[in-house]
Amino acid sequence: MQGLPQHLAVIMDGNGRWARARALPRQFGHRRGSEKLYEFSKWCVSHGVRYLTVYAFSTENWQRSEEEVKALLNLLPQFLDKHEAELKAERIRVKLFGDLSRLEPKLRQRVEALIADSREFDRLDLNICFSYGARDELVRTIRKLAASGQDLSQIDENSLSLALDSAGIPDPDLLIRTGGELRLSNFLLWQLAYTELYFTDKLWPDFTEADLIEAFNDYKKRQRRFGRR
Ligand code: IPE
Ligand code: IPE
Ligand code: MG
Repeated sequence: MQGLPQHLAVIMDGNGRWARARALPRQFGHRRGSEKLYEFSKWCVSHGVRYLTVYAFSTENWQRSEEEVKALLNLLPQFLDKHEAELKAERIRVKLFGDLSRLEPKLRQRVEALIADSREFDRLDLNICFSYGARDELVRTIRKLAASGQDLSQIDENSLSLALDSAGIPDPDLLIRTGGELRLSNFLLWQLAYTELYFTDKLWPDFTEADLIEAFNDYKKRQRRFGRR
């Protein structure tokens, strides 16, 4: 029997289908989805999850229509306008994983300030993967190591882990993907090597605390062997 996951990763999928089912533009689904993220973070705090890493916007999502990309990019400052004070009051440490160089300087400065301000908080680490792709993360990381003058022939699993966006954070114990797709879509490919996977058809805006508890109960029954017998 497992305890609860210390690190939970979530692919928050199904916003578009949620909106379509209500004959609403996709953006409405994304807005609902971002409110769900705030609620979900509070559930994680109350269940004692220590790290929460969520997939909000992928490197591949840049290929969506200009209108949808704009809506997705706007969601991050909107989320912060609404919840930044509460996140700080809850002592939630926020980090962004991804290629932030593709964000507008103003937005980038804002998130960097929040990351700096919340650095000392220890209730929950909320890692928001934004303009994030796992392959891009690996390439950026190796380039960063090369640029810093490191001898790449001496690199090992530990030194690479310590240079990734997720540096210093243990690997996820459990991954939840909502929305019914059975794939990783370029999320945390390195970090998920031994993560337990949980897929549900529930669309992200419909996900409830009872659904989270169901995922935890399923996880508790898993036998994690890490290759040992
Ligand atoms: C997830 O919802 C959010 C992002 C990928 C940005 P989708 O927009 O992928 O919703 P579906 O999968 O089309 O329903
Ligand atoms: C994964 O969902 C990305 C996020 C949830 C941010 P997608 O909807 O982009 O994934 P695919 O295209 O179905 O694989
Ligand atoms: Mg999707």
